[in-house]
Amino acid sequence: MTPPVPPEVAARAAELREQIEHANHLYYALDAPTLSDQEWDRLFHELKRLEEEHPQLRTPDSPTQRVGAEPASKLEKTEHLAPMLSLDNAFSPEELRAWEQRNARMAAEVVTAGYDVEPKIDGLAIALTYEEGVLVKGATRGNGTIGEDVTRNLRTIREIPLRLRAGGPPAPARMEVRGEVYMPLSGFAEMNARRSAEGLSTFANPRNAAAGAVRQLDPGVTATRPLRFFAYAVQLDPRSTERLPVTTQTELLAALRDWGLPVNPLAGHRDDIGGVLEYVEKFESTRGTLDYEVDGVVVKVEPFRLHEELGVVGGREPRWATAYKYAPDLAETTLNSIEINVGRTGALNPYAVLEPVEIGGVVVKLATLHNEEDIQRKDIRVGDRVIVKRAGEVIPQVVGPVVAEGQARAEPFVMPDRCPACGTPVEKPEGEAMVFCPNSACPARIYWGVVHFASRSAMDIRGLGEERIRVFLERGLLHDVADIYALTEEHLLALEGFKEKSARNLLDGIAASKERGLSHVLFGLGVRHVGEHAAELLARHYGSIDGILDASVDELVAVHGIGRSTAEALHAWAAIEGNRAVVRKLRDAGVVLTAARGEPASGIFTGHTFVITGTLPTLTRGEATEFVESRGGRVTGSVTRKTSFLVVGEDAGSKLAKAQELGVPQLTEEQLQALPDQLAADQAAAAERAAAGEAEPEKPKRAKKPKKAEPVPSE
Ligand code: IVH
Repeated sequence: MTPPVPPEVAARAAELREQIEHANHLYYALDAPTLSDQEWDRLFHELKRLEEEHPQLRTPDSPTQRVGAEPASKLEKTEHLAPMLSLDNAFSPEELRAWEQRNARMAAEVVTAGYDVEPKIDGLAIALTYEEGVLVKGATRGNGTIGEDVTRNLRTIREIPLRLRAGGPPAPARMEVRGEVYMPLSGFAEMNARRSAEGLSTFANPRNAAAGAVRQLDPGVTATRPLRFFAYAVQLDPRSTERLPVTTQTELLAALRDWGLPVNPLAGHRDDIGGVLEYVEKFESTRGTLDYEVDGVVVKVEPFRLHEELGVVGGREPRWATAYKYAPDLAETTLNSIEINVGRTGALNPYAVLEPVEIGGVVVKLATLHNEEDIQRKDIRVGDRVIVKRAGEVIPQVVGPVVAEGQARAEPFVMPDRCPACGTPVEKPEGEAMVFCPNSACPARIYWGVVHFASRSAMDIRGLGEERIRVFLERGLLHDVADIYALTEEHLLALEGFKEKSARNLLDGIAASKERGLSHVLFGLGVRHVGEHAAELLARHYGSIDGILDASVDELVAVHGIGRSTAEALHAWAAIEGNRAVVRKLRDAGVVLTAARGEPASGIFTGHTFVITGTLPTLTRGEATEFVESRGGRVTGSVTRKTSFLVVGEDAGSKLAKAQELGVPQLTEEQLQALPDQLAADQAAAAERAAAGEAEPEKPKRAKKPKKAEPVPSE
């Protein structure tokens, strides 16, 4: 008879279950983790231990009995061929050897059967279904059994083949290829820099950024994110009689490579556990040099027949594989103060000034603190001992405080209610975590504003860097970005460090920037939410700055690709007289404030000509035109043999008859909206065929004609 469970143990188990479930939901469903991986592991292992000691506690709804949380988003759900498993961990060589010993008791052969070792990528697990070599579905892991259908998003990842190559052993007729989608550190850093320049929120780490990108509702957004993929497993349909054409994990990785799937080049075979441990040790120093985050090494028993023999624990973790986890790059130090940097958009960014500490070979003095809520949630206070984490190229982060019981602490941090740079009362827009200085004349905002205006992607003023800008501001030569164009040789020569030649060079750089054009000026003005892309769309749509500044919010929103928050921010910006004065000064200085209107962008529709006829169900004529032109297509008024597509609405007239006569394909509005995906898929498939060495089929004159009156299948 099993002894009764003491009530305090039962209560603890219930508490753990709830904490883990909650954390799972935030992590899996909302991409907003609250616990570090180590904290989660600790809770999970505690619960597992309690359930081992008291099996009555093992309720069917315990997080130990399943993988992750219910998917909770508007993406469609889809069931995996078999559950996507997770891995148990080993944190030391002893634990890894103990894992082998446990396995050896079930199957003595493991000791000599060899192991496959693979970097454990910190991304998100996905499953790609291939049928007869064709990618038909891509799904997130979800709760392990049911994931989300993200096929269209995954198709945007270039290295995921839409069709398998013919090399190697014959691929199964139907299989799920499993692997990890991740964001390289370099791409992550670039994307965050761009987002912060555009006044958008930044991602906490590459894993979150990758997960967010994969779970987008709009594949167009996913496509702009630098995602990558590594394949590491294949699941066949357990109901079919199909067999894998290989018998070990290393052979499988080779086959995956032959089939055109990306496989981590650092994966390899080791003869025994000693060899595995050598790999693990050597890899620890290599991993810091990689362009992606690796949190350990996955060790897998080679022969598949032993996988069957060893089996899976609790439907969740296979015995034949384990993850050797490295200690993360953490260090403890003292938080000396919390300082605030006021950015160009007025956002107050808190950061930690630390007692310098070495983490993974680098001395860290500063760390990001994100925002006030984050600081309060983690309860980080000045004077605390804090844990600081450094991961790859990512800015160091304060994980949380280490507080002893009864320890005296400073008061909780509160954001100042006035801007530390200019003293203006700050504002907190509803629903935003950031606090803003609303004063556009704030010296900190002006400094970063000028830095941004002069930067490469804005006006690209050669020779106007941060240091010189600081000096000009201090000397009272600059009060706003337009003053740049009032700088003269006398001004410059009066300053230390300028000679005739350097002054000339800078003035030449400034003069050249006048010709950059409207989209660069608009982006350079640094209006919140108006990034490079939005600036380009607006410039093309309106052709002049006056049209943009005089537009209503509704008119701005009607421009395809411009969202409401952008429109509102722009409208509010234009309502401020000081901002308009800057624009006038720019004009008087001879800065070009116009753009070739409707100048075609380049994109997926480049080379295609569209004619629109009749009334479309949701888009106005202008919006449909914008949709086409912003993707590089042309819209013309009459149907000819050269017309690629006729977009047909209600009450279409003679153009429809003409198109039928000439055999021009017709699209409904819905089909038009699905066309970018379809073309992208066609192009990718063509590229795949080319890469597979197949003869490029003769370039079709137009994209495949979609079936009439049926939405274009987006898959
Ligand atoms: S094998 C038994 N191999 O780690 C099959 N997983 O904790 C389990 N991961 O969900 C997966 N790199 O997201 C495997 N080379 C690799 C991996 C890997 C990263 C992730 C994957 C999985 C999690 C398990």
